[in-house]
Order: sequence, then structure tokens, then C-alpha cells
Amino acid sequence: MVRVIKFITGNEQKVKEAKGIFEKFGIELEHIDLGYPEIQGDLEDVAKYGAKYAASKLKGPVIVEDAGLFIKALNWFPGTYSSYVQETLTNKGILKLMNDVEDRYAEFRSVVGYCTPKSEPEIFLGTVSGHIAYKEHGNHGFAYDPLFIPKGYDKTFGELETSKKNEFSHRYRSLEKFALWLNEMQRD
Ligand code: IMP
Repeated sequence: MVRVIKFITGNEQKVKEAKGIFEKFGIELEHIDLGYPEIQGDLEDVAKYGAKYAASKLKGPVIVEDAGLFIKALNWFPGTYSSYVQETLTNKGILKLMNDVEDRYAEFRSVVGYCTPKSEPEIFLGTVSGHIAYKEHGNHGFAYDPLFIPKGYDKTFGELETSKKNEFSHRYRSLEKFALWLNEMQRD
């Protein structure tokens, strides 16, 4: 059964990744670039609020996704400020902050929020662990990808093809959880 899900985001890269991921689950994505208010709070709060807002605006079921890079040695910065920090400090600024830092543990987190006009939002968290490289590598992907070396690899996300990143990324894990849940819900 092919189902169509409206994905609300302004980020084309996310759409490209999500389309590749959903193919495996027989879900088709309809991309809608509808802005929604990003409230102060953690990823879960932002995803819940955004999904509820968009479902009521569009009068139908929607998903939104909120993600970020969390660096342990920086007290989990930039975290929920990832988007702003990427535009202002950039990857070069992050590398400067990490200059003498030995513990380079970091994780990407992604939260998918699903909501219909008649229900409360459901959320699905995906994380991937890794560490921060000493310089940028690769030009695949977007934003922090050239900085992030996933655990078990010696390459950054920026050096991996999107199809490879899509096999195990934070976004793959949150969207997979959502897709499995949706399949389960629609079984009867
Ligand atoms: P958003 O608020 O969910 O759109 O994402 C916050 C920011 O996190 C994005 O603007 C990117 O800077 C960063 N980000 C989220 N996911 C990824 C990813 O998969 N790779 C690299 N950067 C990401």
C-alpha cells in the first residue's frame, strides 16, 4: 500500500534524504514549505508544536522534523541552536571552539513529530553517535555533515553519499520509527 505523507519543512536537503528513506517503507512524501513557529524548548517541544500547528493549518495529517548537533565537550552546544549557529558561527567557528579539546564525542538527534487535526502529536527520536573531526571533510550532505564522523567510520557524513548516510543517520532512525508505527497503526 502506498501512502502519501505531507512533510513540512523549508529544508530541501531534508526532503531529499526523507524521500530516499521513505521509499523503503512504501511511503511517498509530499513536500510542503509552510513555515511554522519554532518555540523555545527542546527538539521534542518544537516538533510537537510544529506538527500540531501544521496539521490544523492544512486540515490533514502531517510530519515535521527538528534536528540538531549536540557536542558533549561544549555542554551539548549547539543543540537546539544548531540552525542559528550554523548560519552565524559556521563550521569554522565550531572547529575553533574545539581547538584544544580531546573529548570530541558528539551526536546528531532528530525528532519527527506527527499530528492529525483530530489527535495529539506523536514524536519519534533518532540519534547517531560519533565525533567531531579536526577539519571539514567532504561536500556531500549539508550544514555540519563535513564535521561529523559517525561511530565505526573514518569518514565524515560529508564524505558519504546520501544513500549511505540514509542507511543509519539520526534522520533515518527517527523516520524509520515513525514509518513502522504508521504501518502498525494502519494494519487493521
Ligand atoms: P532544523 O531546526 O531541524 O531545521 O535543523 C537545525 C539545524 O541542524 C540545521 O539547520 C542544520 O544546521 C543542522 N542539522 C540538522 N540535521 C543535520 C544533518 O543531517 N546534517 C548536518 N546538519 C544538520
